[in-house]
Amino acid sequence: VGKNTLTWLGFGPNLGMAAVPDAVIQKYEGSFFTFIKGALGGDLQTLAGGPLFLLLAKYYTDHGPIFNLSFGPKSFLVISDPVMARHILRDSSPEQYCKGMLAEILEPIMGDGLIPADPKIWKVRRRAVVPGFHKKWLNSMIGLFGDCGDRLVDDLEKRSTSDKPVIDMEERFCSVTLDIIGKAVFNYDFGSVTKESPIVKAVYRVLREAEHRSSSFIPYWNLPYAEKWMVGQVEFRKDMGMLDDILAKLINRAVETRQEATVEELEERETSDDPSLLRFLVDMRGEDLTSKVLRDDLMTMLIAGHETTAAMLTWTMFGLVSNDPGMMKEIQAEVRTVMGNKSRPDYDDVVAMKKLRYALIEALRLYPEPPVLIRRARQEDTLPPGGTGLSGGVKVLRGTDIFISTWNLHRAPEYWENADKYDPTRWERPFKNPGVKGWNGYDPEKQSSQSLYPNEITSDYAFLPFGAGKRKCIGDQFAMLEASVTLSMIMNKFDFTLVGTPEDVGMKTGATIHTMNGLNMMVSPRSETNPIPGTNEWWTKQHLMRGLSSTG
Ligand code: HEM
Repeated sequence: VGKNTLTWLGFGPNLGMAAVPDAVIQKYEGSFFTFIKGALGGDLQTLAGGPLFLLLAKYYTDHGPIFNLSFGPKSFLVISDPVMARHILRDSSPEQYCKGMLAEILEPIMGDGLIPADPKIWKVRRRAVVPGFHKKWLNSMIGLFGDCGDRLVDDLEKRSTSDKPVIDMEERFCSVTLDIIGKAVFNYDFGSVTKESPIVKAVYRVLREAEHRSSSFIPYWNLPYAEKWMVGQVEFRKDMGMLDDILAKLINRAVETRQEATVEELEERETSDDPSLLRFLVDMRGEDLTSKVLRDDLMTMLIAGHETTAAMLTWTMFGLVSNDPGMMKEIQAEVRTVMGNKSRPDYDDVVAMKKLRYALIEALRLYPEPPVLIRRARQEDTLPPGGTGLSGGVKVLRGTDIFISTWNLHRAPEYWENADKYDPTRWERPFKNPGVKGWNGYDPEKQSSQSLYPNEITSDYAFLPFGAGKRKCIGDQFAMLEASVTLSMIMNKFDFTLVGTPEDVGMKTGATIHTMNGLNMMVSPRSETNPIPGTNEWWTKQHLMRGLSSTG
C-alpha cells in the first residue's frame, strides 16, 4: 500500500478458538498490529450495534477509502472510492470479479438467476433476458403501473377519510411494487394492495430470510439437517416450496401455450393479454425450457425488483416530508402542471417531470439499495491509486472478498456538497473537486437522453444507484418509470404529512434499507391552493388572476 497504511478490522473467534465470537478490531500500520476487543453478538447487525453499512461508514471516516475487515476466518476488503469502484465494475471483466459470497447466500433462493449467476451462466442468461426489457415493453408497462397506481389511490382515498387516517406508506409502497412485479414478470396478480394472502406472506418471509442470511456471519442454514430442526429453516423450506409450486404452474401454463418467435417478432407483437417477461422468454426461439434457469431468472427478478423500488419510494417520501416543506410543494406543482387533469402520466409526462425524477434518484443517493456491492477476485489484481487516499496500488489477492460501499461513496463530502442533505436540486448543478485525483466530478450534461436519471457515467462512478459495468441492473429504467408513475399519481391527488419526527422513522437494513418503525403519514385530499391545470377551479383562478391584473 502506497502510504504503507492499510487498516485491518476484525470480528469473530481468534484463530484456533471456535467458541463465541469476539469482536476484534485490528489496525495494521507499517509492521505492527493493534488489537481492540469488544462486544459480541449473533449477526453482523448486532455486532455492529446497528446496520453494518453504518459501521463501514464509521471506519471509512476513521481509516479512509480502503481497509480490511475480518469476521473470524472471513475477511473483506472494503472500498469506498470511485476510481477503484470504476476499475472493478467497469474496467475489469465479470470473469475477473464474480459475486462470491453473495452467490453462496442467494443460491438457495435464486439458484443460477442473473444476480448470483457465475460468469459463464450469467453471460448466456443476460443475453437471453435483456431483450425482454425492450422499449415497446417498457412503454406498455406504464399502463400496468397506472392500473396498480389506481388501486393505491383508491385505497388511500378510503383510508384518508376513515377514522384511522394514519397510513404506513412504506407498507403501501411494498404492496404496490409487489403487485407490479408479479404482473410484469409472470402475469400473476398478488393483489396485495387490497388483501392479505398466504402467498404474499411467503414472499415476505423469504425476503426476510434472504436478508438475514446476508447479514449473518455464521452460515446457520448449512448446519447439518438445519432444514429439519431449525424453526426458521423449516418455515423457509415450506415458503420456498409454495413459491416454487406457483412458479412451476405459471411456467407450465406458459409453455403449453407457447408461440415460438424471433426476438424481433416478439418485440413487435401485441401483448395486451399477457405482457409478462415469462411470456416473452417462453416464446423466444432458442430459449431452453427444460432447464431450471428460467425459474431462477424469474425468481431473481421478483426479489430484485420489488423491495428495491419500494425503498426508493419510501425514502423519497421521507426526504420530502422531513425537509423544507417548499420542496414537496414544488414537486407537487410540477406534477400537477404536467399531468393536468389526467389521473396517470404517460412516458413523455415522466420525462417532463424532472424535479420528481431528481427527488427519486436523490433518495437512492442517500439510501442506496443495496448499500454495499459484493464481489470476489477470481485472479490476482492491482487496484489503481485511489482518488483521495493511497498513492500506490493495492494488491488484491485471488479469492479476496470485496465490499464496495455505495453508502459511503454516495455520502462522502469529497464527492457531494452538503453530502448528508436530501437535496434533489443538486442534480441540476455540476460538481468538481480538484482535490480528488482521477475523478472527473458530476456533470449533468453527460446524461444521455435515453436515461431517466443521473447515473454512474454522469458522476464518474461516485454514484452507483443501479451498480455499473456489465453486471449493472437490467431493471433500472423500469424501476424509474414505475416509481415516477406511482409517486406522481398519489402526489396529484393527496397531501402528505409525517406523523411524529423524522427520528421516529428509524432505519434498519438487510439487502435493502427499511425504516425501523414504518413511514407513518397523514394523507389528506390535496389542498386546492394549487389547482390542477385544465380543471374548473384552475380556469376560475386564471380568470380571477387575469381580471385582477387587467383591473390593476
Ligand atoms: C442488479 C439495484 C430494480 C433486476 C442490480 C444491481 C443493483 C440494483 C445495485 C447491481 C448489483 C451488483 O452489482 O452486485 C436496483 C435498484 C432498483 C432495482 C435500486 C430499484 C430502485 C430492479 C428491477 C429489476 C431488477 C425492477 C427487474 C425487473 C436486476 C437484475 C440484476 C440487478 C436481474 C442483475 C444483473 C446482472 O448481474 O446481470 N440492481 N435494482 N432490478 N437488478 Fe436491480
